Amino acid sequence: MDMGDGGQRVAQSTESPLLRALTGVRVDPPPIWLMRQAGRYLPEYRKVRAAAGGFLELCFDPGLAAEVTLQPVRRFDLDAAILFADILLVPLALGVDLRFETGEGPRLEPVRSAHDVARLKPAEAVDEALAPVCRTVAAVRAALPAEKALIGFAGAPWTVATYTVEGGSSRDFATVRRWAMADPAGFGSLIDRITEATIRYLVAQVAAGADAVQLFDSWAGALPAELLEPLVFAPARRIVDALRQQAPGTPVIGFPRGIGPAVCAYVRATGVDAIGLDSGVDLAWAAEALPPEVTVQGNLDPLWLELGGDALRREAARVVAAARGRPHIFNLGHGIGKETPAEHVAALVAEVRRGTRETGS
Ligand code: CP3
Repeated sequence: MDMGDGGQRVAQSTESPLLRALTGVRVDPPPIWLMRQAGRYLPEYRKVRAAAGGFLELCFDPGLAAEVTLQPVRRFDLDAAILFADILLVPLALGVDLRFETGEGPRLEPVRSAHDVARLKPAEAVDEALAPVCRTVAAVRAALPAEKALIGFAGAPWTVATYTVEGGSSRDFATVRRWAMADPAGFGSLIDRITEATIRYLVAQVAAGADAVQLFDSWAGALPAELLEPLVFAPARRIVDALRQQAPGTPVIGFPRGIGPAVCAYVRATGVDAIGLDSGVDLAWAAEALPPEVTVQGNLDPLWLELGGDALRREAARVVAAARGRPHIFNLGHGIGKETPAEHVAALVAEVRRGTRETGS
């Protein structure tokens, strides 16, 4: 490995820029992918979704799911594909009834007691139930050029539990937080079941061809600070440890959204390779505060992307500058909004790649 200035490792020209960045190497310009890069803002997605008949039907059709996974990579030349699926497929595989009603978001049959948890299917149920998703992974990997990475993913146990307990999206998470606080053992049995299922599912994604995985803890910020260790850090650590054993060498990106400066504790406690930052975290601060070998990912507010124009170029350049000098993967602070014009995504990619400098200089 070459040593650059400051003794940091410098990117090699082989393999994918995103995977190089995930091994703690500085890559310039930073590789770019976008959360929710496949979805309703793309006309070609809407067409395939209509042909599939529904969102879940699309998730379970490996041919069509592979096609929508590849669409944004082809259109924008992004550095990675992210598997097209959903975090709620894990509770579905555990036997929780799940529906997506148009315009209303997900609806689940609520799990609200240790008794309900005991009636869920065992973690092993994901192997068969989510085998079609792993066929999507294999189809995408076979179609992607070597320099493009394929990111697998799952929801983190806490975030998946919020939907499973609330029965859908929530404003205040009162029901799930009340259960977590009043009955740590009962709620812990739900977290454990989801954690075990998630480990099997992620290991299967890697076996099918995923190059890296991201753990989405979109609602970590809804918890009081004292519950971050048991409900956010500990399950993520268990998942990271299991992947190190069962899928060695697979980089893990943690995305604990909304926890602010506790991202430092998250990184220390979980051992993730990379940390996804939401837009509320000052990237210049994070670049200083986080251990130098940890890759930072993020964190442009998706509304700048929706807005476009000079403001988008200015803010994208600010994100690139704030993370320069350390391993960085350019991304948004949360998923692309469905009103986003596709041309703005092309403009963002051009801005991030503008003024390409020599790798590692
Ligand atoms: O392109 C990608 O990022 C890959 C696919 C992906 C989807 N969902 C597709 C999807 C990924 C990584 C997710 C993750 C996901 N799903 C999260 C974590 C990230 C985040 O946004 O915080 C969460 C919380 C979910 C749960 C979920 N799925 C909700 C709340 C909804 C309904 C809201 C909405 O935007 O419609 C979904 C549906 C969903 N997942 C869609 C897509 C493209 C829209 C479905 C449609 O076509 O109508």
